[in-house]
Amino acid sequence: MSDPRGSNPAPPGAGSTTSAPSGAAPAESWTIQRVLAWAASDFKERGLETPRLEAEILLAHVLGVERLRLILDAHKPLDPAELARFREVIKRRRSGEPVAYVVGEREFYGLVFQVDRRVLIPRQDTEILVDVALEATRHRDLSGRALDLCTGSGCVAIAFARARPTWQVTGADLSPDALEVARGNALRLGVIWGVRFVSGDLYEAVGPEERFELITANPPYIPSGEIPDLDRQIRDFEPRLALDGGQDGLSLLPAIAQGGFARLTPGGTLAVEIGAGQSDAVVALLERTGFVDVRRHKDYGGHERVVSGRKPAPERSPAIDGAASD
Ligand SMILES: C[S@@+](CC[C@H](N)C(=O)[O-])C[C@H]1O[C@@H](n2cnc3c(N)ncnc32)[C@H](O)[C@@H]1O
Repeated sequence: MSDPRGSNPAPPGAGSTTSAPSGAAPAESWTIQRVLAWAASDFKERGLETPRLEAEILLAHVLGVERLRLILDAHKPLDPAELARFREVIKRRRSGEPVAYVVGEREFYGLVFQVDRRVLIPRQDTEILVDVALEATRHRDLSGRALDLCTGSGCVAIAFARARPTWQVTGADLSPDALEVARGNALRLGVIWGVRFVSGDLYEAVGPEERFELITANPPYIPSGEIPDLDRQIRDFEPRLALDGGQDGLSLLPAIAQGGFARLTPGGTLAVEIGAGQSDAVVALLERTGFVDVRRHKDYGGHERVVSGRKPAPERSPAIDGAASD
């Protein structure tokens, strides 16, 4: 649908009102339905992949309602202030800013996380990392210590802490700015007492004597040379520190694996998110480091997304086992 006022591609409300000036023919008012159709068409022309959905998310955000309300109130006109706010968010989206930053939130693992440009937007693909962490700790759901490296918005640490409320969870990140966002999320999602957030370069964020039954990490893993070719909404808006994995994308992996082996308790699990084509290298690295039961896990899209390994537990001596069972 083209702009009903002709070929003017300006967002609704730009220099117009919802009613016709006196003496002029009555103008169609900017109802929810009409505004949505206009925005979806505009986004489509600009090549956005899900134009209608994005238009709905943005309008629901501006009006402070659930998306369903847009259907129920389809014929309700927007007032000038609402139109002005909608125009502002459309402008931001047109500039390439991701919808999640514009509305300030993204759902992950059934929880709503606040996000802004200080953190990577949580991806659905990363939910498998939480699944792997929960599966690896199923046998000891009563207590344990978990470390989530490269925690960003805290999405993995918080989703895990909600499912394992008796565990002590630590989220660590090099970026103090990201940790502020993570703390806010922990507070709003009711796990502020179960999760602490600490800053530092990988394991330097925690004390040298600290040990964990589980370590998760979603490190930056995009090769530096591929960053210029990323979609604009990732490249120009998400933190470079969250994306750039060095020359081969795997620059943090050796330290994550070796530090993990040193800090896991026997039998503990390391689970790391990886990018396309990285699984063979990461499986080999974990095996070389001494991990056993090294596995690849596919995300919901069928891509190898996580590699996990277990630190071997010392073999139990048959004599001691025998004595223990006497
Ligand atoms: C890919 S993002 C992951 C964020 C979040 N865990 C998620 O899954 O959405 C990577 C994160 O690693 C952090 N980071 C980068 N280098 C780091 C380092 N050397 N030590 C600790 N954190 C680092 C970045 O600040 C960023 O928050």
